[in-house]
Amino acid sequence: MAKTILEINGLRKTYGQNEVLKSVDCSVEEGEVISIIGSSGSGKTTMLRCVNMLEEFQGGTIRLDGEEIGYHVEGSTRRRKSEKEIARQRALTGMAFQQFNLFPHMTAAENVMLGLIKVKKMKKPEARAIAEKWLDRVGLGARTNHFPGQLSGGQQQRVAIARAIAMSPRLMLFDEVTSALDPELVGEVLQVIKGLAADGMTMLLVTHEMRFAYEVSSRVIFMNQGVICEEGDPKEMFVKPKTERLAEFLKTSSFN
Ligand SMILES: Nc1ncnc2c1ncn2[C@@H]1O[C@H](COP(=O)(O)OP(=O)(O)O)[C@@H](O)[C@H]1O
Ligand SMILES: [Mg+2]
Repeated sequence: MAKTILEINGLRKTYGQNEVLKSVDCSVEEGEVISIIGSSGSGKTTMLRCVNMLEEFQGGTIRLDGEEIGYHVEGSTRRRKSEKEIARQRALTGMAFQQFNLFPHMTAAENVMLGLIKVKKMKKPEARAIAEKWLDRVGLGARTNHFPGQLSGGQQQRVAIARAIAMSPRLMLFDEVTSALDPELVGEVLQVIKGLAADGMTMLLVTHEMRFAYEVSSRVIFMNQGVICEEGDPKEMFVKPKTERLAEFLKTSSFN
């Protein structure tokens, strides 16, 4: 039986009075590729950010590889874990965002090496070897010594993905990684994600690329107003949505 990598139970997140995640439950097995779709403001980004503790949350639990993330929960008391512990847990996931956030004064290889040296405490030659291996895997073997400014948006995003994956996370989180790219650069980034999926990497990805979600995901989650409104096999969901809301959403999305 497949191993459960991520288990979210009753996740609740509020910003002031605004409850943006209203008891979200979600479980992800090893090797699954899950696409999260839904209109803007439905809570997709917030959900990913809770998983790696970039956001605090007010209720529920998140377990990653069996570990409770962020908080000790005993009965009705919740206590935030130490920052050191949270930093360690954060390294269990890798995240790539719409904005690549590369350091402009560092080469592609140096950007990938940084976490390996600072967080994983690797020596430079070892870190460089891993960085070069991953840059090669994302098709940038010939550009390891280029600076971000010398790379296209698609290439920069591939460096950012290599940087996250080089840390050997248990789970990769992608948040609209192609949204800031010119249309002709989207394909090369999706191709890299497809390759990682084929390798068995467990992934949770927020995307507006419906065709991609349809082709690559083992499961799709449709979020609406802070709840998971519908989930299932993309081959069924996209063709025969069960809820009116999903039907509406698909009508306005790029899938047709
Ligand atoms: N830092 C923040 N402060 C207050 N409200 C926020 C913040 N970030 C997100 N929100 C609100 O939370 C809701 C969900 O946002 P988000 O998770 O970004 O949605 P999505 O990624 O699906 O577009 C929205 O109503 C948004 O306005
Ligand atoms: Mg978002």
